[in-house]
Parts: sequence; C-alpha cells; structure tokens
Amino acid sequence: MAEKFAFSLKRTDGRARTGVISTPRGEIRTPAFMPVGTAATVKAMMPESVAETGADILLGNTYHLMLRPTAERIAALGGLHRFMNWSKPILTDSGGFQVMSLAGLRKLTEEGVTFKSHIDGSRHKLTPERSMEIQRLLGSDIVMCFDECPALPADDAEVARAMRLSMRWAERSKEAFGDRPGHALFGIQQGGVTEELRAESAEALQAIGFDGYAVGGLAVGEGQEAMFGVLDYAPGQLPSDKPRYLMGVGKPDDIVGAVKRGIDMMDCVLPSRSGRTGQAFTRHGVVNIKNARHADDPRPLDEACRCPACRNYSRAYLHHVFRAGEMISGMLLTWHNLTYFQDIMQGMRDAISEGRFDAWEREFHAGRAEGDI
Ligand code: GUN
Ligand code: ZN
Repeated sequence: MAEKFAFSLKRTDGRARTGVISTPRGEIRTPAFMPVGTAATVKAMMPESVAETGADILLGNTYHLMLRPTAERIAALGGLHRFMNWSKPILTDSGGFQVMSLAGLRKLTEEGVTFKSHIDGSRHKLTPERSMEIQRLLGSDIVMCFDECPALPADDAEVARAMRLSMRWAERSKEAFGDRPGHALFGIQQGGVTEELRAESAEALQAIGFDGYAVGGLAVGEGQEAMFGVLDYAPGQLPSDKPRYLMGVGKPDDIVGAVKRGIDMMDCVLPSRSGRTGQAFTRHGVVNIKNARHADDPRPLDEACRCPACRNYSRAYLHHVFRAGEMISGMLLTWHNLTYFQDIMQGMRDAISEGRFDAWEREFHAGRAEGDI
C-alpha cells in the first residue's frame, strides 16, 4: 500500500489533464467526479453500488457530521470509512460553505463562525482549528481548508474581504493540520469573478503550500458563462503539478467545460439529488421520469447504459415507481445518474490519454437536447 499522498500527471491534451492521485486508501483516477455523501451516506445507494458506478472517492461534510452524529462519536466508532462502510478515499469539505448556506443565525469574526444548527437550533462554533480537528477525527483522506465563500453577486470590496480572511484562515488551517503522512490538505482559492483577486488568492495559497488546490466560490449563481470565464484563467494561476479541484460543480456540460479548462476533480449533489426528484441525465439530455409520456414506454432510460436501472427496467416501470412514491425510484435513478457521470469521466480520461479530447467533446455535445427529452 502506498503510504504517501501523491499526484502523477500522465498526459495533457490542450488544457485538459489526466493522471492519478495515490493515497494509502487507493488510487483516484483524474479527472475524477466525487459523489456527495453528506450524512455518511450517498443517499439511496449502498457504498458497494457507488463503487460499482466507478467512483474512486466520496465527499463528506464537516458541517453535517459535526452536528449529527458528531465527529467524536464517529471517531470512537473507528472513523468515517468504517462507520459508513466505504474503504476508498474520502474528501471532506471544511464546513464554512455549508454554515453559510444552511445554518440559522450566523456570526462571522476573525476567529471563525458561530451559528445555530439547522437541525435543532443548538449553538456551535467553527474555526480553522476546530474544522481541522473534526476532519482528523473523521479520518478524512483529503482535508479542505476552512474558508468563507461569499454569495454572489457581491461587490469587489466584499469579495476581497472574504478572500483575504480565507487566506488568513488557510494559514491557520495549515498550521493546525500539521504533518500527517498519507493525508492531504487542499487550499481553496477565492476571489469571485475578478481575475486580480483570484491571482492574489492563488499566490497567497502557494506561499503557504498545499497538497492540492481548489477553485472555490463558483457555481453560486453566477451562471455558466461567468464560471467558464473564471476557469479560462484560474487553473493556470495554480501549480500544474498538484491536483486542481472545482468545488460544487456541476451539470454534465459544466463538468466537461471545467475539465477542458484544466480541472482534475469535481463534486456535486446533482446526480444523487436529481435521482430522487425524478430527473435522469442521459447522453441525449435530461429525462423527467414523472412525465406522463413515459407511462407506456417499454424502452430503457438509455439503451447504451450499463446501470441496473437501464439493464433491467423500462421507462414505464421507472415512471410508475416514481409516481407511486416507491423508494426504489430514487435508488434506480440515483444509480443511473451516478453511472452516467462516471462514464463521462471515463470517456474524458480515455480521450485525453489518446489525445482526442476535442473530438470526444464534439460527440458529447452532438445529439444532446437542451430541454427535456
Ligand atoms: N463548495 C462549493 N463551493 C465551495 C467553496 O467555495 N468553499 C467550500 N469550502 N466549499 C464549497
Ligand atoms: Zn442507466
């Protein structure tokens, strides 16, 4: 078993990159998509099924797990991997972003954030030091710095303030993380959609030095064009010999556009959350399974898909179980969506390895409808 955390870049094609992140818990093939397992489960999926879709790594959340069942309880039970029966790598987000989007009444100071739990209203505090402690108790393989992600649109002064605070917190995160062989700490670039602020943030992070670098503060309502605008320069501001992780993205065409611009890792709730609300992503576009026109359709969701929902069930069945509120509906559609996302990643890894990313991208876009199909 490799005892070190390392990134090996295998091949580039334009700005797109493919490689392998080695960790003591296994290899992560990049570009990688990380399914979200917020509450120590990828909702509606058994972990062995998540692995079957092709996922090499999951994302977990400091914010949710510190509130319930608590990091101390998970540590006493042997850590998050054992607790949730997932032995491959886990990346944990640091909590700052979720506090800002989910918690009640918040107070932000230089020290950190105090907030009320969205579950029971109890008061809690997160600081860079406490976030590092929680992520250590969970046994996270890739730990994220504690940061503040401002909601967009925000004026430049506000974006700059949040970015500079995040850089001071990044330094405290690194100090508190310490030296933990086999575990990685990633910095998070902030700076909104302003190139100068992104450059300042990238320099501050590199002066501290991290095992990987995330592009944060995107997919917060700025739209795809603005996001791609930032991704046209942001990856180039970060070291090329370390993984680059775009946080919280995205739809299939966002993911492809991000990889084209030099991103190596992504995470998003979209495939799992949409699965539970009856939305299926396919190579032809989005299928809304609740639509009445599927009621008599004997065809599979996607005849070319290898997942159990497509191999063993008709659109008519998937429509029926969704309408009837049966649990298997969320299970099958989540399985399909995660499989489709992982197949996109495998397609990109193969295309980059063989120097045909542009042709692959053209084929990806051809035959895709904009609206529902
Ligand atoms: N998830 C999506 N965006 C962000 C971000 O900017 N920071 C953190 N910590 N998590 C995120
Ligand atoms: Zn399928």
